[in-house]
Amino acid sequence: MLNTLATPRACPILSLFNEYLADARHQKLNLGVGVYQDETGLTPIMAAVKAAEARLLGNQTTKVYEGIFGNETFNQAIQTMMLGGLNADGRASTLQTPGGTGALNLMAYLIASARPNATIWLSDPSYVNHRPVFEMAGLTVKTYRYLDWESQCVDEDAVIDLASQLGAGDVFLLHGCAHNPSGADLSLAAWQALAELAPERGFLPLIDIAYHGLGDGLEPDIHGARLLVDAVEEALMSVSCSKNFGLYRERTGAAIVIAESERQAKRYREAMCEMARSAYSMPPAHGAAIVAEILGDGGLTSQWKSELLTMSNRLISLRHELAAALKEQTQTSRFDFLIRHKGMFSIMGLSEEAINTIKTQYGIYLLPSGRINIAGLTSHDIPRLVEAIIASGG
Ligand code: LMR
Repeated sequence: MLNTLATPRACPILSLFNEYLADARHQKLNLGVGVYQDETGLTPIMAAVKAAEARLLGNQTTKVYEGIFGNETFNQAIQTMMLGGLNADGRASTLQTPGGTGALNLMAYLIASARPNATIWLSDPSYVNHRPVFEMAGLTVKTYRYLDWESQCVDEDAVIDLASQLGAGDVFLLHGCAHNPSGADLSLAAWQALAELAPERGFLPLIDIAYHGLGDGLEPDIHGARLLVDAVEEALMSVSCSKNFGLYRERTGAAIVIAESERQAKRYREAMCEMARSAYSMPPAHGAAIVAEILGDGGLTSQWKSELLTMSNRLISLRHELAAALKEQTQTSRFDFLIRHKGMFSIMGLSEEAINTIKTQYGIYLLPSGRINIAGLTSHDIPRLVEAIIASGG
């Protein structure tokens, strides 16, 4: 019966990871999947997370279901972190989800149920999982020009121009910060322009935010998204705690819905619950309990923020080191964009052939798009990566 199945689409991130695991070379280096590593190459458990976990394990008395909404203390804490004072009139409602991808899925089905003919607009390029998530929900997916591949900056005129043409029935997906895969972010002026156009044009903003705190700092990284969300009656926000709390495998995220009234926001949250119930029933408890514990305790919150700052400072200094080494070796400013970019990723602008040579000859794994995970590097790796880039002919 099942042999009519089409060949499943492989995810480039997961395929590359499997290739990396199968590589027997000692000196291999995985710059594919977006996971933070410290200077020793380890993805550490944050000390604030460890402390919160110790408390939870000591106090936990049951493993009974949390409930369909997940942990409501977590939901409230995430909503406050993301929206700040914007939710004074109760127009937002938040649902705990299995990671940011869980939130994206529920939102995709929410949109598809309300507007089956809606078009979702993704940046070119965008996170490799965006298209499958929205296509699986039956939505029409289109792309908009985002990256100017020549300068590796955002083509803000193109983004704003698109916004001025969209209308009701269009969902405009924007990355809140530290754009995946390009690392090139919208300026605040561009966010402001979008905030002016959105209510006029009536499109639905969907902000995917997964790297806040790893760019310019927690508050600045959320600022642009808040400007836009504050300007409209309806918006969606998918939030991940994978990277900034280092909770990858705990699958911790949230779907925030902003509606024209408190009643509508609750209705949309309930619609997402209906979809969650049939997809996975109830979200996992552990990661959300950790985040709720950290954000509910001043001491743990400060400890977490200071660890997050250490992580983002490490990314910034690696960006400078890599850009300086490439400048010295190539005698050009071709890779200076690394310094302007934010967060974990940049697209190196290398040919397919070069990316393949870097993998086969040097055991250094970059995504086929040329996306590099800066956080996968250590200072020790930089000379080898630079050598590989130059030897591959770039
Ligand atoms: C990535 O882009 O590498 C991360 O978001 C990991 C993932 O799940 O794809």
